[in-house]
Amino acid sequence: MCGIVGYIGEQNATPLLINGLKRLEYRGYDSAGIAILQDHSINIYKKVGKIKNLEDAVNGSELTGSVGIGHTRWATHGVPNEVNAHPHTGNSGALALVHNGIIENYETLKKELQSKGHVFKTETDSETLCHLFEKLMEDGFDLVEAVRLGLSRVEGTFGLVIMSSNHPDMLIAARRGSPLVIGLGKGENFIASDAAPLVGHTTDVVYLEDGEMAVVTKTEMNVKTIDDRPVNKSIVTIDTDLQEIEKSGYAHFMLKEIMEQPQTLENTMRGRLLMQEGSAKLGGIGKDIESLLYARRVIITACGTSWHAALIGEYMFEELVGIPVEVEYASEFRYRDPVLGNDSVVIAISQSGETADTLAAIREAKRKKCKVFGICNVVGSTIARETDAGVYLHAGPEIGVASTKAFTSQVTVLALIALVLGRMRSISTARGLEICRELAAIPDKVSQVLANHEQIKEIAGEFKDMRNFLYLGRGYNFPVALEGALKLKEISYIHAEGYPAAEMKHGPIALIDKDMPVVFIATRDSIYDKVISNIEEVRARKGKVIAIATEGDKEISKRADRVIFVPPTLDMLKPLINIIPLQLLAYYIAVSRGCDVDQPRNLAKSVTVE
Ligand code: G6P
Repeated sequence: MCGIVGYIGEQNATPLLINGLKRLEYRGYDSAGIAILQDHSINIYKKVGKIKNLEDAVNGSELTGSVGIGHTRWATHGVPNEVNAHPHTGNSGALALVHNGIIENYETLKKELQSKGHVFKTETDSETLCHLFEKLMEDGFDLVEAVRLGLSRVEGTFGLVIMSSNHPDMLIAARRGSPLVIGLGKGENFIASDAAPLVGHTTDVVYLEDGEMAVVTKTEMNVKTIDDRPVNKSIVTIDTDLQEIEKSGYAHFMLKEIMEQPQTLENTMRGRLLMQEGSAKLGGIGKDIESLLYARRVIITACGTSWHAALIGEYMFEELVGIPVEVEYASEFRYRDPVLGNDSVVIAISQSGETADTLAAIREAKRKKCKVFGICNVVGSTIARETDAGVYLHAGPEIGVASTKAFTSQVTVLALIALVLGRMRSISTARGLEICRELAAIPDKVSQVLANHEQIKEIAGEFKDMRNFLYLGRGYNFPVALEGALKLKEISYIHAEGYPAAEMKHGPIALIDKDMPVVFIATRDSIYDKVISNIEEVRARKGKVIAIATEGDKEISKRADRVIFVPPTLDMLKPLINIIPLQLLAYYIAVSRGCDVDQPRNLAKSVTVE
């Protein structure tokens, strides 16, 4: 949520910051700004809306300075306008900063600073920090000490980069709750809220931990804690290449990410399937797997799409392993004082590895002495680092705000874990081999569904003006219904609800008329006949039926207005196939309504505030 980038070196900082912000735009896009140090003063440009507006504004400028900071905003305090956009300054204009997070005690600090003559220009909590640091400098502290002491008075969360025209040779970065990564170059250094802006500039990075601050010059980086203890950091190598963070000819990142799922699923499974033994190998979990096997209670916690993957995981674990699993929204779990003990295991699922609620949930679980596993996509992310063991998705950077490829990779990882546990517990070699074979065949089957995109586009054109949609499924297809509905509402702003098909009779059926399309995920499984009855109930009320059905199903063609056929697979793996047409349907409906698919209004890719 919100993107930060900072540069100090020899090159012109402006294009570097603008390009960095473009790569971070998925984190927030209400407004954006940069501050460049030039001719001994700080020059600030801010614009409402996309980075493109900011880029147009700076294009005519003569900015050439080689030290600067930039920010793309997802508003928390204060409406998204130019005044509230970052960077912010204090009284003197000699200090500027960009901030992610929320300063909870800003009103108290602001009143105190106003009473001492500081004049505030914005409605933001972030501006308070500038005045706070300036006040401490007025009291005689140097910049680094003023920042350190100021931050120790701050309640809340921050990822911060600070620059000063009186200290043109340094940037200061500090972190509590909002991620920051420092990219180490030759004669230049970068700071960013995630690694995307660093790609192509450096592969050597240092992640700041909570409670740490760094003084970064062109050639050096010094890290200490905010309570003034020295810290030794290790350098981590990142291996993302430029192509992975570009659209590669696709109209949108979301389409690219949907279309690349055959490869991302291969990558998720690469080296992990044991085709001879009918099991899997997960290096990141190793022996820790036993704590899952003998757990009295397994809780899977996540938010958004990752929560839908968790639900599928629950069904898989119960089917293959027979252990009791509960799925919890991380935001509820963290405040509910859950009953946990050292025989409970928590699995956190997060694409970004930075979602504030999920992070707080794992911290709560660790406080209660649970073993915590992570399933993350972003390598080196906070959740990946703070969990005891885990499995990476290896799906590559996901940039479209609506999650697609991460979801299918999350479900795949959950299937692999369930397979390993199931084989350790009770499932036979024959069943293990069958699951392995089916998993290995999934990428090809996903390709087959993707090849059908023209038909899905046509259906999208037919239904694009509908105002409501219902998505229904049973068993493994119930979370698919939830996820299909979420995709549609996120990017097309059409109201959509996912329901277990049978629950329709307890409420949603009242909504059904000729203007209500109902998407049934009705692939052949043990409860197929029940779903057919539900389809009849909708038809009897003149609802329009779009069915996702198994290839060769003639029955369903008689009942549904539109049918999208998908290849068969095991029930537990059906979500991997059945979600694909729903992702495409949402995508094409949103595009035909003229919506901004990659950056839907009000949403952010990674929600780092609660
Ligand atoms: C945001 C994103 C969703 C994502 C959710 C959880 O709402 O827009 O796509 O599913 O956060 O994010 P995480 O990174 O924890 O999976």
